[in-house]
Amino acid sequence: MKLCLLVAVLLVTVTLVSCGNVSYDGRSLIIDGQRKLLISASIHYPRSVPAMWPGLVQTAKEGGVDVIETYVFWNGHELSPGNYYFGGRFDLVKFAKTVQQAGMFLILRIGPFVAAEWNFGGVPVWLHYVPGTVFRTYNQPFMYHMQKFTTYIVNLMKQEKLFASQGGPIILAQIENEYGYYENFYKEDGKKYALWAAKMAVSQNTGVPWIMCQQWDAPDPVIDTCNSFYCDQFKPTSPNRPKIWTENWPGWFKTFGGRDPHRPAEDVAFSVARFFQKGGSVHNYYMYHGGTNFGRTAGGPFITTSYDYDAPIDEYGLPRFPKWGHLKELHRAIKLCEHVLLNGKPVNVSLGPFVEADVYTDSSGACAAFISNSDDKNDRTVEFRNTSYSLPAWSVSILPDCKNVVFNTAKVNSQTNVVAMIPGSLQQSNKGVNSLIWDIVKEKPGIWGTADFVKNGFVDLINTTKDTTDYLWHTTSIFVGENEEFLKKGSKPVLLIESTGHALHAFVNQEYQGTGTGNGTHSPFTFKNPISLRAGKNEIALLCLTVGLQTAGPFYDFVGAGLTSVKIKGLNNGTIDLSSYAWTYKIGVQGEHLKLYQGDGLSNVNWTSTSEPPKMQPLTWYKTIVDAPPGDEPIGLDMLHMGKGLAWLNGEEIGRYWPRKSEFKSEDCVKECDYRGKFNPDKCDTGCGEPTQRWYHVPRSWFKPSGNVLVLFEEKGGEPDKIRFVRRKISGACALVSEDYPSVGLLSQGEDKVQNIKNIPFARLTCPSNTHISAVKFASFGTPSGACGSFLKGDCHDPISSTVVEKVYLFAIFCIAFGGLFSTKYLLIFSFSKLTTQLRDTLMLSASD
Ligand SMILES: *[C@@H]1O[C@H](CO)[C@@H](O)[C@H](O)[C@H]1NC(C)=O
Ligand SMILES: *[C@@H]1O[C@H](CO)[C@@H](O)[C@H](O)[C@H]1NC(C)=O
Ligand SMILES: *[C@@H]1O[C@H](CO)[C@@H](O)[C@H](O)[C@H]1NC(C)=O
Ligand SMILES: *[C@@H]1O[C@H](CO)[C@@H](O)[C@H](O)[C@H]1NC(C)=O
Ligand SMILES: *[C@@H]1O[C@H](CO)[C@@H](O)[C@H](O)[C@H]1NC(C)=O
Ligand SMILES: *[C@@H]1O[C@H](CO)[C@@H](O)[C@H](O)[C@H]1NC(C)=O
Ligand SMILES: *[C@@H]1O[C@H](CO)[C@@H](O)[C@H](O)[C@H]1NC(C)=O
Repeated sequence: MKLCLLVAVLLVTVTLVSCGNVSYDGRSLIIDGQRKLLISASIHYPRSVPAMWPGLVQTAKEGGVDVIETYVFWNGHELSPGNYYFGGRFDLVKFAKTVQQAGMFLILRIGPFVAAEWNFGGVPVWLHYVPGTVFRTYNQPFMYHMQKFTTYIVNLMKQEKLFASQGGPIILAQIENEYGYYENFYKEDGKKYALWAAKMAVSQNTGVPWIMCQQWDAPDPVIDTCNSFYCDQFKPTSPNRPKIWTENWPGWFKTFGGRDPHRPAEDVAFSVARFFQKGGSVHNYYMYHGGTNFGRTAGGPFITTSYDYDAPIDEYGLPRFPKWGHLKELHRAIKLCEHVLLNGKPVNVSLGPFVEADVYTDSSGACAAFISNSDDKNDRTVEFRNTSYSLPAWSVSILPDCKNVVFNTAKVNSQTNVVAMIPGSLQQSNKGVNSLIWDIVKEKPGIWGTADFVKNGFVDLINTTKDTTDYLWHTTSIFVGENEEFLKKGSKPVLLIESTGHALHAFVNQEYQGTGTGNGTHSPFTFKNPISLRAGKNEIALLCLTVGLQTAGPFYDFVGAGLTSVKIKGLNNGTIDLSSYAWTYKIGVQGEHLKLYQGDGLSNVNWTSTSEPPKMQPLTWYKTIVDAPPGDEPIGLDMLHMGKGLAWLNGEEIGRYWPRKSEFKSEDCVKECDYRGKFNPDKCDTGCGEPTQRWYHVPRSWFKPSGNVLVLFEEKGGEPDKIRFVRRKISGACALVSEDYPSVGLLSQGEDKVQNIKNIPFARLTCPSNTHISAVKFASFGTPSGACGSFLKGDCHDPISSTVVEKVYLFAIFCIAFGGLFSTKYLLIFSFSKLTTQLRDTLMLSASD
């Protein structure tokens, strides 16, 4: 036993950003006269709740982030023309102040068109119905409302002194969003609009620069910026503008019926390191915390309620390891180079095929180098300044002194966590098991109350509901004569429907017949199902629905959805086309109209109580009283056994649920992801054949200790008795220690003072608060393989590995050390158990000779 390291808990000091004059040149932003190299993180305020904001911002700060970036969500703020809302999740000022209090900067992407996988790209649906409006072009009503809202937001920020020029945190503001892709679709008016938007923004006099992303013709002084998986090759259109990356996508979003995309931490780190290697100065992760599309805020069609994005902080607010930890170490390595990167002169040197070094030196003799190997297959060993360096394929090594590698993007030193969804019950604690009482109300399939209108043929869903609801009832009837052959044969005619989207549930004579929907990548669909008809009059009722409105694209505001054809096949007359029949319409379902999910609305019907809720019942409202799950872990609702619908807790909108299985085959998914080579959203997918989204985040702050009202509207049928709360729990951690993995210079503040730590490979394990290491589950020296939670022993496994680690573990609870062992790889998995104190442990495992 040579070392035992006890590392103190670090306290983060709060510093307020002082008054900042923000300017720029071709190298960087200059804030208060100082050049800045900035790491920024997108966290969208309405995709979490105010109670989570300080924690998310702090976790970003601990991850080495300097700046928070958010869009402003117009349709969450201007509910009808001139009617503004800034409460709850939409309290933008409170969010900005949370960032300020953490001593961080803010990039405010006002848009106000934002795309963002957000309903209708963030533009209020009412604006589409202001006569003569066309979005995002030189169109008077659009520009009038866009300018009005932009000015409103700028004035609000000014009033609260939130611009850096006023001493606030906002250092950059964005107008429009990725318009360059679409400008040409709008011809002359597109170009005119882009210039108008830039000028309008600049005339707001915020005292901070404006940016436009993916906007190649952005006029001075607006800065054009890059959005992509890689922006090392990006060059702003003017040499006087700094190289800014507004969106590096560390993952991707999901659609109901689609797969679960993952971007490996090694590749994210590679892209970031390459960007700074090639002269970048502001880099933003889109998303750093993706969060949740609560209520009906998800865009579409089919964007899931979860907006996790495989981001460094997961949907539930927990740092995602190893991604968060690996990027934290990357940020620290880059920051070690900040001064010389920004003030030095760059020289690039080719060190052989695919390998290049970018070397920055300044007049004081300081030197920093980035050496990259862009070969997506082969590791390379190169000579640089008389020293030999080996670089794994598709990696960048960072040398803050041009000599020692402190970080390589492909060598993940960070711990990996085992995260589990621990099921709990939905019980009220004062009642026995299985005594949960459900209150039930059924919707009548078809027109409720008075019909809204009758029309021959179909209408567009969005034009009709104006997105006040997902639902539009269509009903008609057909007469079936007694002499129909199918009645005699006992066979069934077939209902054939074609629709441009997004989904429908079919009912005949009030009986559910089936559901039709696009496949998650494509919204037009056909529905084909045998149906039960009887002699005489038959009512056909179709509940057509939208699942989030289009978020972007040329003229996206005019993309409609709805039925194009309804036929019945297999009658004596052959196929009967009902498309031009008289259809009766009703917008929304009755329970929504009565607000059965909220406050007084709950008593607008007589619920039927039962302890055995009926299963597979379409069009059913369920209500029950639940306790908050114990503990302090984040909470999800397990909806695996439900059909499709909406959920609320205490009147707060959880969102759309739809545990719809991905239609992709297993070969469209990967078991292991090779981080090497260019990433695309389909490269490292999992979840083929599984529900795209099983768990739905319910923020802790929405719960009272007891008496919480959970309400569901189930559209097509499910098993409510199988709904469970789950707690998202970190149940273990793995770390890999290798002599080969650089750690010099990457110690936390204070840790480098611990004697002898330099040049010793180590792993730092961070446990969730209130936990400590309770057992060593796996340990192996040599060449172990596999993933955290399922490691396999390697060829030169030494049977004493576990014993050694356990002995060490017994010796010290807060730290582990050992010496004199093998030198290759060391893998360790710990599981946590409850600790009574509030300590957040930092543990180190170190190996030395
Ligand atoms: C802000 O900085 C720029 C460039 O450094 C300088 O020209 C300008 O005078 C400064 N403005 C104020 C108000 O300090
Ligand atoms: C290397 O530097 C030269 C001179 O500054 C520049 O023209 C060239 O584009 C750089 N090459 C790369 C790959 O960055
Ligand atoms: C590398 O070695 C050569 C010959 O030994 C020497 O001339 C040169 O200065 C060295 N370069 C550096 C950067 O140390
Ligand atoms: C919706 O209504 C508008 C007129 O308000 C019309 O221009 C548009 O074509 C309609 N959209 C669809 C998809 O029918
Ligand atoms: C079937 O065809 C007959 C004769 O053309 C017509 O009178 C009848 O209405 C049709 N039935 C239906 C259900 O359309
Ligand atoms: C509920 O039932 C009571 C008693 O039968 C009746 O008076 C009342 O109108 C019903 N309320 C609703 C909303 O149907
Ligand atoms: C989804 O539907 C579209 C159009 O029908 C088709 O091109 C695509 O392959 C489908 N995707 C899957 C996963 O079935």
